[in-house]
Amino acid sequence: MRIASCYFKRLVLIIGLTILIFCLIQFLKFEITFYDRNDRNDKLDGSPACKLPRLDIFNPEIMKFIHDVPPLQCSPEDWVKAEGSKLFIDKNAKNQYGQITCSFNEILRVDDYNYILTDTVETDKFYVLRKSDYAEVNCKTQTGKRWHTIIAAVRDDPERKRDVTWSKVPREALNLNILMFGFDSLSQNTFARKLPRSNRYLRQNLDSIILKGYNIVGDGTPQALIPILTGKIELELPETRKRMGAKAHYVNVYPMIWKDYKQAGFITGFMEDVHHIGTFTYRLKGFDEQPTDHYMRTYYLAASPHFKYSKSFCMGGIPRHLVMMNHIKSIFNKYKDQPKFIFGFHGELSHDSYNDIGVADDDVLHWIKDLKESGHLNNTILILMSDHGHRFAEIRNTLQGKQEERLPFFSFTFPPWFKKNYPQAYANFLFNAQHLTTPFDIHVTLKHILNFKEPKEGDIRNRGISLFDKIPLKRTCSDAFIEPHWCVCLSWLEIPLDQEVVQKAAQYLLKFLNSYTENHRDICEKLRLGQILWAAKLIPTKGILHFQKSRDTDGFVSELSAKTKLTTELYQLKIKALPGKGLFEASISRDINKNIFFTRISDISRINMYGSQAKCVENSLFHLRKYCYCKE
Ligand SMILES: *[C@@H]1O[C@H](CO)[C@@H](O)[C@H](O)[C@H]1NC(C)=O
Repeated sequence: MRIASCYFKRLVLIIGLTILIFCLIQFLKFEITFYDRNDRNDKLDGSPACKLPRLDIFNPEIMKFIHDVPPLQCSPEDWVKAEGSKLFIDKNAKNQYGQITCSFNEILRVDDYNYILTDTVETDKFYVLRKSDYAEVNCKTQTGKRWHTIIAAVRDDPERKRDVTWSKVPREALNLNILMFGFDSLSQNTFARKLPRSNRYLRQNLDSIILKGYNIVGDGTPQALIPILTGKIELELPETRKRMGAKAHYVNVYPMIWKDYKQAGFITGFMEDVHHIGTFTYRLKGFDEQPTDHYMRTYYLAASPHFKYSKSFCMGGIPRHLVMMNHIKSIFNKYKDQPKFIFGFHGELSHDSYNDIGVADDDVLHWIKDLKESGHLNNTILILMSDHGHRFAEIRNTLQGKQEERLPFFSFTFPPWFKKNYPQAYANFLFNAQHLTTPFDIHVTLKHILNFKEPKEGDIRNRGISLFDKIPLKRTCSDAFIEPHWCVCLSWLEIPLDQEVVQKAAQYLLKFLNSYTENHRDICEKLRLGQILWAAKLIPTKGILHFQKSRDTDGFVSELSAKTKLTTELYQLKIKALPGKGLFEASISRDINKNIFFTRISDISRINMYGSQAKCVENSLFHLRKYCYCKE
């Protein structure tokens, strides 16, 4: 009997406890959904899983490394200039030196590392390119003065001009040329800082769309360009590394996007300077067959040894970046009415300095303006871009520098009529430009252009999503195939409430709240801290090792251990204020050097109901409702 009653008591106790726990869970659930509905709504449902960092273009921490660079002074004037396929002796030179005789040798590609010259043709008038886009030119005057250059133009190719037409491009394709041009190591912010005139023209005159959350997926140029061009990372593609010897394929095996465009009937072009560290030729084996119709590597093989005789960043009378840009423009002019896919990537000017690129601002501006004025931008998607941000020690030592490295400049300019003809695709593009995007997305977008389907909701399970489709807000770095180390999305790390900084931030928040109602102290109570409920610190996602490092250490071991010096920290705090038990959630930043806090009224949410507490301000002082506890 005693034993039975003991069991009975225990049973009651267990049932009682179970009910209690059940109730507790229900209560907590209610609490959570309550908060979700009332205060987190706009933060969670309407906001992206990836919160992009806000990086001030003029952050003093970065600006101290930024300075102006004097413009390039390329001279003397070139004696021979190009127009289309014609290389002619310049009138000014003739006026100055009298008769000039020049010998021309066209430069023919043998492979990615060798070229040969055609037989010499001598003339004192002009020469028309037939076999190559590139030629070596040697001139002399009658007094024996000499001049030399390697020149780029566009050879005559009547057959191609006849064969390639828009009518042969598949019906599903948008009838648009692709012109992608980039500078190495240019972050979104560097573009704004160092190329302000081009930046302004793009935004104001061309309605260009800048991808705010374009996140790199690896370290270095190949790690940026390979995903754009193939949709894959190097590891997933056939072996092409030089040091693997005979086992390695030529890079021709890669499923390059320009093959798709070629297949669709486009004229293709790939230009890259700095041939000694070429994207596909430095570690990788390079191409056996020429990869595109126009291929500037051959020019650089022949020209680079002569660069040292010109002023810095010049080839004779013009800046070297313009050699490439003009070549691209010439191709566009030569094949004005033919479909074209051209990708140019210029390395040397910006690769080793974040300041030198400033000298290209006017050149870039005039180049774009010229493309616009000659009508090309009316049937071209212009993609100005970069591979990654600057990777130079001083700037990378700052948190912002690290973030900027991961956010290269990437922009799209559509013809003015595009918005009207493809409103949904355009709207999606605008939307996506504000969120996390990747090189894989660019690849899918370039494919989408060739096979245009009605825009839809993007499928988050796909690594790349076309920018004409709508990328779901819940997309995270891992959905997008971005390793945590490169991920720019920010996340909140919960921190213990007894940390001094939390206490200080809470006191600051109360002071701030009180200052907001200060002028109405006759009706609003002064608030004091009841309790700190929660605190978190904003942190860039922590790094781990990334793919390439595990396979390959030649050429690009990334620097993962860089010490980052923070200048500001961002906290989020939830507090209860007294009297009235008002719950407030606030974002507060702290200047680390000065140890001062900062917030704005728009960064503070009242997260429980104020009800009748704010009766005294309800009608007259509407803006104080959330912050005023009315005196009795
Ligand atoms: C631009 O292209 C559109 C669509 O193809 C055409 O209707 C328009 O006339 C063109 N505008 C100019 C200035 O060429």
